[in-house]
Amino acid sequence: MRKQFTTYCYLFIIVILAASCRKYQDFPASEQDPRLSGGSQTTFDAGSGAFDHSFEGLSVHDQLIHDIGDKEFSLAFVTAPAPLNPGLGPLYNNISCGSCHQSQGSGTPPTPGQPAGLASLLMRISYGVDEHGGPGPVPGFGLQLQNNAIYGTQKEADFTVNYILQTFTYPNGDSVQLHKPVYTISNSYAGLPGGLLMSPRLPPEVFGMGLLENIGDATIIAMSNQAMFDTTIIPGHPNYVWDVVKNQMVVGRFGHKAERSDLAQQIGVALNEDIGITNKIFPVENCYGQPQFKDDNMHPEISDSLFNCLVYYLKTIQVPARRNVTDPTVLRGEQLFKQAKCSGCHRQTIVTDVNVAFPQVSNQTIHPYTDLLLHDLGPGLADGRPVYSANGSEFRTCPLWGIGLTQVVTGQTSFLHDGRAATLEQAILWHGGEASYSQNFFVHLPKNDRIALLAFLNSL
Ligand code: HEC
Ligand code: HEC
Repeated sequence: MRKQFTTYCYLFIIVILAASCRKYQDFPASEQDPRLSGGSQTTFDAGSGAFDHSFEGLSVHDQLIHDIGDKEFSLAFVTAPAPLNPGLGPLYNNISCGSCHQSQGSGTPPTPGQPAGLASLLMRISYGVDEHGGPGPVPGFGLQLQNNAIYGTQKEADFTVNYILQTFTYPNGDSVQLHKPVYTISNSYAGLPGGLLMSPRLPPEVFGMGLLENIGDATIIAMSNQAMFDTTIIPGHPNYVWDVVKNQMVVGRFGHKAERSDLAQQIGVALNEDIGITNKIFPVENCYGQPQFKDDNMHPEISDSLFNCLVYYLKTIQVPARRNVTDPTVLRGEQLFKQAKCSGCHRQTIVTDVNVAFPQVSNQTIHPYTDLLLHDLGPGLADGRPVYSANGSEFRTCPLWGIGLTQVVTGQTSFLHDGRAATLEQAILWHGGEASYSQNFFVHLPKNDRIALLAFLNSL
């Protein structure tokens, strides 16, 4: 009897041990699995739909809101009056979110030498500084050049890009063509002031935004201070920007110069400036002060509830998982990425804030490959247009998660804030200024190692 009892005890212990071993393998902790770029909100789809998966664990109700936002993201806006999505323009850049953020991915620059038309690249403009230290609106034009207008109204102007070809030669004699963009504004409906500042912007990918939004201000500030005691980190600084809802200066996160603090404002300004759709945060048409402006209706053109669905959708898109993480070339590339100090700005790992109200983004160990800080990459990339604390040569470190899937998802590759780099190699070669050490390290690598570093980027 006693012997039988001991046997049962042993059996029980074995079963418990076996069960706990299985559990460990089934659910590896996120920090132990380098593939989980978005922590618990990572998708293993590496196909053309990789940038459009909803968060896991949403309630039926929340999933419905996500799905409504998803539809709204791709649906074209049309001229009012219309039953569905009215209010386009009168001035706009494009007709839907999805026509710029193709398949939730990055955009493409316009055809060289042709007016930009319905391009995804847009042109920010400014003249002087506004009352909060932000870019000053150009009289009669505002802060963005709307190069399209609805029937019967006048667009602000056309803009065109042309490229000056430069040849970059590696120490071993290999060479790469680089394209330096030059922009021209033409056919403007009114005179533009001398000293006008321009900043071309390519749409970035829009997955994982909820996770980036939940990286706390304190974490961003701590990352900017870390360089004081950690030599692997390159000093950068946050952008402090005007928050139109809180009416105060806050830490910026979104956009190539980190000029918006949260998703609601980022999306509100996109609706208003890019599509001409007024909304609860930005209720005045972008052509305010121009002949096109008709103050016949100050109600937001998008309802608050549809706006909220769009914001919720953008908050709840998963991040694609890394691929080939155990491939020896990729592992070598990862080592070089650290040695070259790329990770001094493109931070591999960040832990998001605890957010009791939103468990999916709470306390997640993510691998966004950004510090959300501003860095000066030298005169080669500078646009000369300051935005709050970002001077004319500073940009927010581009997140690199998902970058290896750009071609598969969007059918093209255009990198950097203005899309001038057609390949990852070209993007690295444009790095200068604070990234000179990294660029130089890359340039002097043997060819096989350059290939390994690119293989690592393609595994992200
Ligand atoms: C004309 C093209 C265009 C349209 C239309 C457009 N966007 Fe964008 N989007 C951009 C560009 C360019 C940026 C980068 C802005 C910057 O640098 O300040 C951007 C940035 C963003 C970001 C921040 C990404 C990041 O990494 O910081 C989000 C989110 C976003 N857009 C969502 C939307 C939504 C939602 C819509 C539709 C309401 C929309 N966009 C419409 C071009 C566009
Ligand atoms: C000093 C900080 C810094 C360092 C170091 C740095 N980068 Fe960057 N990186 C940036 C910034 C800022 C941008 C955005 C520049 C722009 O948009 O014009 C960027 C953009 C990129 C892009 C383009 C991403 C996209 O989606 O368009 C790639 C690729 C890239 N970096 C790779 C690297 C690699 C590889 C290294 C190391 C060899 C490196 N970077 C080192 C700050 C840095």
